[in-house]
Amino acid sequence: MSKQRIEQLRALLTQYATQYYIEDQPTVSDAEYDRLMEELQALEQQHPELYDPNSPTQRIIGKVLDGFEQVTHAQQMLSLGDVFNKEELQEFVDRIWKQFPDAKFTCEYKYDGLAMALMYEDGDFVRAVTRGDGFVGEDVSENVRTIATIPMHIDMPGHVEVRGEVIMPKKSFEALNALQEENHQPLFANPRNAAAGTIRNLDTSIARKRRLDMYLYYFQNGEEHGIHSQQEALTSLQKLNFRVDPSWKLCSTFDEIWSFIEQASQKRADLPFEIDGIVIKLNRFDQQQQLGTTAKAPRYAIAYKFPAEEVETRLIDITLTVGRTGKITPNAVLEPVRVAGTKVSAATLHNRDRIESYDLKINDKVIIRKAGDIIPEVVRALPEKRDDTVVDFVWPTTCPICHCELVKDEQLADYYCVNPECPAQIVESMIHFCSRNAMDIEGMGDKKVEWLHDHHFLDSIEDIYCLHEKREQLLQHKGWGEKGLDKLFEAIEQSKQQPLSRLLFGLGIPLIGAKAAALLANEFGTMDALMQANVMRLQSINTIGHSMATSLVKFFGQDKNQQLIANLKALHLNMEQPQINQEEQTDSFFANKTVVVTGTLQQMTRKEVTETLERLGAKITNSISKKTDLLIAGEKAGSKLEKAKANHVPIWDEARFLKEIHHDE
Ligand code: IVH
Repeated sequence: MSKQRIEQLRALLTQYATQYYIEDQPTVSDAEYDRLMEELQALEQQHPELYDPNSPTQRIIGKVLDGFEQVTHAQQMLSLGDVFNKEELQEFVDRIWKQFPDAKFTCEYKYDGLAMALMYEDGDFVRAVTRGDGFVGEDVSENVRTIATIPMHIDMPGHVEVRGEVIMPKKSFEALNALQEENHQPLFANPRNAAAGTIRNLDTSIARKRRLDMYLYYFQNGEEHGIHSQQEALTSLQKLNFRVDPSWKLCSTFDEIWSFIEQASQKRADLPFEIDGIVIKLNRFDQQQQLGTTAKAPRYAIAYKFPAEEVETRLIDITLTVGRTGKITPNAVLEPVRVAGTKVSAATLHNRDRIESYDLKINDKVIIRKAGDIIPEVVRALPEKRDDTVVDFVWPTTCPICHCELVKDEQLADYYCVNPECPAQIVESMIHFCSRNAMDIEGMGDKKVEWLHDHHFLDSIEDIYCLHEKREQLLQHKGWGEKGLDKLFEAIEQSKQQPLSRLLFGLGIPLIGAKAAALLANEFGTMDALMQANVMRLQSINTIGHSMATSLVKFFGQDKNQQLIANLKALHLNMEQPQINQEEQTDSFFANKTVVVTGTLQQMTRKEVTETLERLGAKITNSISKKTDLLIAGEKAGSKLEKAKANHVPIWDEARFLKEIHHDE
C-alpha cells in the first residue's frame, strides 16, 4: 500500500515539476505541491528500503560531500572554435558548402555557463559529469540533482548521454549577489563564475538554494536512438522534457544565419540568462562525421562570439581616490546600468591623461564595457550627444583629502599626494595591511577599517594591535557586540604569526608585490637580514630588478619605517619566514618537480596552490618548457594547456591536485 502511494507520489510530483518548470503551465498550487512532497518525505522515512536516489525528495535534501570523483568521458567533451565577425563566419560556412552544397545549419544560443554531461540508464538519471579537461571530468551528480529543471526520469530506454550548459539565470544571480552583499561576502563577478562555484561546492544545499538551470544542446549517442541530425537532437531533447530554448533555428542560407545573429544580439539584454554568442552547427550527423574534429574542437560547428557588451550611460561625476602610495586615481560615477551580468555604477578612468584624451565632461553620455568580462571601464565619450547640462571637469592642484599640493610623476602621467600624514593614505595602507593576501585579518575589511579610522580608533598600523585596549569604548558604538569583538581580536592576535612574506607585502613597499615579498622572505629568512641588504645584494636575486631593489633600500632607510618595524617587533609580530621542512619536502611527490599552474581554480586560490606546492618542494614556473614536470590546469586553461599536451607534459586538473596534496600533507 505504502509502496504504491510512494510510487504514485513520485510520479505526480515529477509530472507537476515538469509542468511548472519546463512547460510553464502549473496545474496545482504551490501549497498542494508542498503538501504532497511532505507526504512523500514522511512515507520514505518510514520505508527506507524503498529509497530511490532519483526521488523528487532527494532534490531538496542537503548533503555535504567528501569530494568529487573523477570520471573519464566515453567521448571527449569538445570545446568550440571561435569567430568574431561576419567574414570569418562566412568563410566557415562557405568551406562546408563547398563540400556539402545542400548543408543546413542550426543556430543556437551560446549559453554562458559550464558544460555538463548527463547520463541515463533505462530512463533513470545516473550521473552528471563536468567537462574538466575534456577527457576527465568530475562527478557532480549530487549538485546537479538539485537543479529542478533536469528530469530524473526520461522516456528513452538504454544508455543515453546528453550534454548542455549549467547556467545561473540573471534573476538568481542578482538575488545571490544581493545576499552576498548583505552578508559582507565577496560578490561573484558574473553568472558563469557563480554557476561554476556552485556546482563545485561540496554542500549540496548551497546548489539548491542558488537556483541553477540547465539548457541542453547536444545528444552524445543520438545515432543509437535513431537521431540523425542536430535538428532531431534538439526536438528529441525537448520531447524528453529537458530544457531546450525554443529560439533555435534551422538555416539554409547565410542571410538566415546572419539575421538570426542580429536578432539574438538585440534580444540578448532581455533574455533571462546570459549568452555570449551563437553556435552554428552543421545539421546532419553523417556530414558532421565526415568533417571530424581537431584535437580540441569539431570542424562542423563554430561559435560566433558577440563583441564585449558595450552599454551607454551617463557620467554623473568624477571622483578622485588617494591610494596607499598617494597616487591619485580618477573614477567615473555612472548612472547605474547592467553590463555583462552585473549592475555597474562606477568605473576607473585611470589617470588625468585619459580624461583629457576622451575630452570627458561631467554629464556626458559615455560607452562602458567590462574588460575581460570583469572590470568596468569607460571606452569613449559621446560628445555628439552633449547638451547644455555638461560641466567641465577641473583637475585639482591639491589632494582631495588633505589638501596638500599634488606632484606629477613625469614618467608615468600619474599625480601623487606626497604628504605622509595624508589620512587617505593611512587608511589605504591599513586596508592593504589587513587584506587577504597580506596579513589576512578576518573582520577587518575596507569598511571596518575606514569606520575605525573615522572614529579615531585607528591611526596607524600599530594601532591595529592595540585595538583590544579600546574594547569598552567600541562596545558603546552601534554594531559592535561582545562576540564580534572577541572574534576580531582573536583574528588580529592570530595574524601576528603570519610569515614574514605576508608582513612584507602588507607593509606596502612600492613595487613589492606578493610574489616579490615571498621571494625576499625566503631568500633572507628574517626582517633584520633583509633590512641590511644593499641594492647590489638585492639585485643579485633573480627577478628583483634595480627599481625594486632601490625601492626597498629607500623604504628601509626612512626613520618612520624603521620605527614602524621596531614597534611591530615590540608588539610580538613574527619577523621570520618559516624554514621549509626538509623532511616534508623530500618525502613529497612534488619534491624538486617543476610545476606550472594555469586556468581558473575553484577550490583554492592560485596563491594557495603556489604556496602549498612550494612548501612541498616544487619549483613553480610560468611557462611550459622541456623542464616542466607537471601542469596543473584549472578551467579555461588556454595556450599553456595546448603546449603541455603537445610536449606530453602530464596534466592534472584541480581535483587530482587536491587529492594528491591530501595524500602528501
Ligand atoms: S556545442 C561538439 N552548443 O560553449 C559540440 N556548446 O566555447 C560541443 N556552449 O564547451 C559544444 N552553448 O560549454 C554547444 N548551444 C551550444 C552551446 C555550447 C554554450 C558552450 C560549451 C562549449 C563552449 C565552447
